[in-house]
Amino acid sequence: MSKEKVYIFDTTLRDGEQVPGCQLNTIEKIEVALALEKLGVDIIEAGFPISSPGDFNSVVEISKAVSEPTICALTRAVEKDIEVAAEVLRYAKHPRIHTGIGVSPYHIKYKFNATPEEVIQRAVAAVKYAKRFVEDVEFYAEDAGRADNRFLAKIVEAVIGAGATVVNIPDTTGYCLPSEYGSKILFLKENVSNIDKAIISTHCHNDLGLATANSIAGVINGARQIECTINGIGERAGNTSLEEVVMVMKSHKGLNLETSINTKKIFPTSRLVSTLMRMPVQANKAIVGRNAFAHSSGIHQDGFLKNRETYEIINPKQVGISESSIVLTARSGRAALKHRLATLGYKLDQKQLDDVYAEFLNLADKKREIHNDDLEALMGKAARFD
Ligand code: KIV
Ligand code: ZN
Repeated sequence: MSKEKVYIFDTTLRDGEQVPGCQLNTIEKIEVALALEKLGVDIIEAGFPISSPGDFNSVVEISKAVSEPTICALTRAVEKDIEVAAEVLRYAKHPRIHTGIGVSPYHIKYKFNATPEEVIQRAVAAVKYAKRFVEDVEFYAEDAGRADNRFLAKIVEAVIGAGATVVNIPDTTGYCLPSEYGSKILFLKENVSNIDKAIISTHCHNDLGLATANSIAGVINGARQIECTINGIGERAGNTSLEEVVMVMKSHKGLNLETSINTKKIFPTSRLVSTLMRMPVQANKAIVGRNAFAHSSGIHQDGFLKNRETYEIINPKQVGISESSIVLTARSGRAALKHRLATLGYKLDQKQLDDVYAEFLNLADKKREIHNDDLEALMGKAARFD
């Protein structure tokens, strides 16, 4: 069975860049956009052009610099926002306007003080207005995660009728359970009469640490676009992490889903974004964290050295990391010590290894990690195996 494509919509430069302290200047944004193009993302959400002159200018320059991916600009369901987005996207080869409105009771009642019918009218008017400028219009139903499914189906049907090519179902507050989010997507597939005319998109936030699981539940149930960011950066606890969803789909062949991401570019792109945004990647972050391919306990090191797949489900080379690491600590075993000493040119018999291992443990109990120069000192001190 041939695989179905899931489009990767990267919003590092829009939702990701909203994070306090992560703001980039135009030159830096172009550098990230070009890296995203090389990475193979399908859509780059380049900014929210009406929000500031800097963002306006950045979307213009990214539109000029990038040729392969679609360039998307965010708007509210407001004519002026849409006009400004259309103006900056004039330079894009493949432009998309991303417009939308809140659809949960919180938004309808407290933010807009409107009726559900009024919200549908505003959504339809925004999509129709955006269609005057570009063919490709994505509609976001903000806070769809907490919206009533019947109302959601109604507004989605109306905006597709108005010409929306993509319908984005954000779990804006990161509240949904994967089963709930997946059912929401399935509900739309089954209850929106014109749903086949548009692509359903996921846009999940990570407030409960469920963004990746929810996005995957979304595609299992019929969504064909995932909105995500490099390193999962974004508002509050962040957005769905690009590297995680891409590697889930690549690793689980049974899902029969594929993306156009060149996975070997994942790690360099992660480091570029982290450096430019001055946002460190947590050490245990899946796929790109410093410890994602580091083995430190004796049992794991021994198993890994016999066959890496015992403790690794992804070969680090697949994501652009040259090698896994064996970290030497007081929890390491003889197998790891022997392996490291061999790479340093020391070949020890069992008795010699036992002696050095005892000294290694004494030192390791005092230090967090044992490095090569510690081992050289240990071997020099012993001077037994010349
Ligand atoms: O989280 C959200 O709902 C958003 C929309 C503006 C797409 O970022
Ligand atoms: Zn968002």
